[in-house]
Order: sequence, then C-alpha cells, then structure tokens
Amino acid sequence: MADAAAPRLVARRTFLGWWMAIILTSLTAAGVLPILVYLWPAPPKGQKKGPVSIILDKPITQLNDGEAVKFNAPTNPNTAFIMADGGGDNAAGDLAFGGFAVKNAGKVAVLAINCSHLGCSVALNDAAKTFDCPCHGSRFHLDGTVLNGPAAYPLSHLTWKQGDDPTTIQVDGIVLGF
Ligand code: FES
Repeated sequence: MADAAAPRLVARRTFLGWWMAIILTSLTAAGVLPILVYLWPAPPKGQKKGPVSIILDKPITQLNDGEAVKFNAPTNPNTAFIMADGGGDNAAGDLAFGGFAVKNAGKVAVLAINCSHLGCSVALNDAAKTFDCPCHGSRFHLDGTVLNGPAAYPLSHLTWKQGDDPTTIQVDGIVLGF
C-alpha cells in the first residue's frame, strides 16, 4: 500500500518533457537573437537626439526679405539635423548636415540643404533668390518649393526655435557619436 504522505515524484515523461522544452527554447533563442540584433542594432554609444545650437552669420530676426544664411552641422562631435518632412529622396527623420535659415515673404523658415531629387547639397543663388542644385539642375524657390525639376518635391524643413541670444537657433538634431 502506497504511503499517502510520501512526496510525489515527477513522472519520467514529464521530466523529459521539461528538459526538451528548455533545450528547444534555448536553441530557438540562440538562433533568433543574433537575427534580431542584426535587424535592429543598438544605437552606437553616445548617440543622442536633441536640439543642436547653431550660431548664424546674422541674427535670424535681422534677415531681410529674400535673404538666406547657410549653416553647417557641428563636426565635433559629429552631429546631424533631423528633417521634419520631405518627399522624393528626403523623408521625415532623414539626416541633413547643413541648412539655410531663410526669410521669404515675411516668413522665416529653416530648410535642409539636401536636394529632394537625389540628395546633393543645394546652393543659394543670391542674385536669382533661388536654391540651385549643382547635380542635375533642379532649382527651388526660397520657400523650398520647386521652381525647376527634375526634383519633384520641395526642400525639407528643419524644426527650430530661437536660441538664448539673437544669433543662435536651436535645430532638432542628433549627436551621431562616431
Ligand atoms: S540631386 Fe539635385 S537635381 Fe539631382
């Protein structure tokens, strides 16, 4: 007669089932984890999003209508601006390494330097009051809209606000950490 108070032993089949489950789970994790890390790598150490302080050649409040000033992203540490919108080769969230603060028809805007065709840096054509792309000839109005193709989309905007002094603006960006 079995002793009712004796501890219940785990059936051999149950025990083996647990071990099989543990081994299969471990093997699956070992196979899948490297794929997940490859698909979604951790951001490089030191990468940080936030406002980037830019000192302009001229206070943004003193820009004349039809005037634009170019600025570049800091390189120490290596930093980029984050586009707020975009079309063609540009999209919201893409990086830009330069831009223009521009006053046009009384409105101030900050635009990314990247041509929406294939991403070359546009240059200010001060005489014509346009942004011209040296790569394939696209031209943009000072508000970023297309004047001549092949670009079919306007220049991207950068999100910005006035800094602590008249010549400084804060532009949304990211310290790349490399
Ligand atoms: S990259 Fe600007 S026109 Fe092609």
